[in-house]
Amino acid sequence: MSEVITSINQMKEFSKKAVLSQKSIGFIPTMGYLHDGHLSLIKKARNENDIIIVSIFVNPLQFAPSEDFNAYPRDFEKDRLSCDQNGVDVIFYPGYEDMYPQDYQTFTEVSFLSKPLEGTSRPTHFKGVTTIVLKLFNIVKPTRAYFGKKDAQQLIIIKKMVEDLNLDVEIVPCEIKRGVDGLALSSRNVYLNAKERAQAICLKKALDKAKELIDAKILDSKTIIQSMRDVINSNDLASIDYISINSIDCLSELNEVVLGKTLISLAVFFGKTRLIDNIWI
Ligand code: PAJ
Repeated sequence: MSEVITSINQMKEFSKKAVLSQKSIGFIPTMGYLHDGHLSLIKKARNENDIIIVSIFVNPLQFAPSEDFNAYPRDFEKDRLSCDQNGVDVIFYPGYEDMYPQDYQTFTEVSFLSKPLEGTSRPTHFKGVTTIVLKLFNIVKPTRAYFGKKDAQQLIIIKKMVEDLNLDVEIVPCEIKRGVDGLALSSRNVYLNAKERAQAICLKKALDKAKELIDAKILDSKTIIQSMRDVINSNDLASIDYISINSIDCLSELNEVVLGKTLISLAVFFGKTRLIDNIWI
């Protein structure tokens, strides 16, 4: 059975003891509503660490006032069962008042990497992410922390924060888990109606198109992006937020794909639901 810890002090005590007894801690920060994508991170961590800690906290700081903080899906009992079944030792499930008391005023920001791509559409998002992740790292004291490539920019930013702030944690990138039809698993997929869900596979199809062009030695970003746009635009319910080709290191836009160093990413609206996906070339 996974132990549920809600108190920050209790979580710190637990981790302090684990560190003192030289046990490695694998940590998977989540916002809950766990699916096979989250579980793939947990399984990887289970193979590589003595103790597995999963946090479940829908972090208000990373949602803009206009976004879906209240509507974000939550099901603690189901999550608890998934954790039990996947060898999670501790679920850290803190309260809002404990993480952000009334007089809370300290924030962490990775400045430049937070600006492009998701940052353009969601300018305050990554400040919220890095602040909560740093707090969680301080409380949980992980040896290794697991992040999905699904949220590529988040992963790149967290790595930079760890480097810049000399944090003692290894960041482990994990592959994107997809449904059988190719749609990347996401807690937000539950917002899609049947028609939108059917069309949503166009994100993966657009990325496949990009890969196909690159395999045929077509590396020009404009050409690739236009082909991807054509794939998405053939779906009447899809509305493109961005499609972009960037350097994996500094996220600057690339005129040409550089093999081994390129992130192709996109965000597409279906109604109010915003889906993201990407491929690392
Ligand atoms: P959440 O969206 O719950 O995702 C938790 C972790 O699961 C992230 O590292 C994310 O990249 C990974 N993940 C989600 N879907 C995935 C998929 N289909 N395949 C592989 N990994 C996947 O990301 C967050 O929460 C939050 O921003 C958080 C880091 C917890 C900070 O609040």
